[in-house]
Amino acid sequence: MFKNLYNEIDFFFRKNIRLKRKYTGKNELKENLFEHFSGEKKQLAKEKEIFYLKKYQLQEFKTNSTCRNYLENLAVIELLENFLAPTPEKNVVKILDIGSKNWFYASGEWSFFKYKLEEFLGYSRVTALRVGEAAPSASARNPLFLDGIEIDAFRVYSDFHTRYDYAQYYIKNLANTRYITKDFLQHNEKYDYIIWFFPFVTEFPLQEWGLPLSKFKPSEMLKHAYDSLNSGGKMLIVNQDEKEYAIQENLLKNLNLHYEKKGDFKNSFLEYEHKRCVTIVFKDS
Ligand SMILES: C[S@@+](CC[C@H](N)C(=O)[O-])C[C@H]1O[C@@H](n2cnc3c(N)ncnc32)[C@H](O)[C@@H]1O
Repeated sequence: MFKNLYNEIDFFFRKNIRLKRKYTGKNELKENLFEHFSGEKKQLAKEKEIFYLKKYQLQEFKTNSTCRNYLENLAVIELLENFLAPTPEKNVVKILDIGSKNWFYASGEWSFFKYKLEEFLGYSRVTALRVGEAAPSASARNPLFLDGIEIDAFRVYSDFHTRYDYAQYYIKNLANTRYITKDFLQHNEKYDYIIWFFPFVTEFPLQEWGLPLSKFKPSEMLKHAYDSLNSGGKMLIVNQDEKEYAIQENLLKNLNLHYEKKGDFKNSFLEYEHKRCVTIVFKDS
């Protein structure tokens, strides 16, 4: 009870004070990216990193990131490659990330969708101008719109920067990308793809993350996420460990949603303490 009261008060103040200071980021040399691996695993990780670096044009991001952040983003790309094959029927595609924290993985999401959409929509053909032809519209040049939404964007780190400050840094080179600082339940836009890493499906982690229990609404959140999909849209949910995965499945069943469980996902770049269990939700057209 005390924890909840503390969270209510603390959350109220940070939400209203909205601290902002420019964060300028940190870079690290990437010479020993895979010291945490050995043998075949290390070799495989090295090869895959080179492959993704070229495929998703990550050179600038690689130069201007920490080792951990670079690896986290590679892991996100691998996850999305494994479970989403975007096949948009429109020239503009909207993507939402729910509960983005400081959005340290925005580059991975953006680079994945940008590559896939260009591949699918024939981007180079769209933008290859013939003499005398009008310049393509902004949406033709940039078919991807990426939003991240976070209810607790003004939580302060030990360096006195907020999640908001970090997020602004992580998205600064990503065209058409917005970090939205509000409760997802108050946000009413439609998306073609929704990515949702670690939704709160039990009270304990929500409280540990500093949110008041009044914000614990897993079923309402899931329904709103489903309602926010355009028809034909897909949502990728990642849960931590089997227990949360089972609770997530119950929530999906109770709402009678069309979903596929994809199981535990292991990436090539990092080892996590907890399993990452994946579900895809479909909004049928
Ligand atoms: C377990 S964390 C996951 C953070 C991040 N996605 C990641 O992978 O590290 C869940 C996040 O969802 C946010 N969140 C919870 N309820 C929300 C809501 N109603 N609207 C927007 N964000 C919410 C929390 O503040 C928290 O940052």
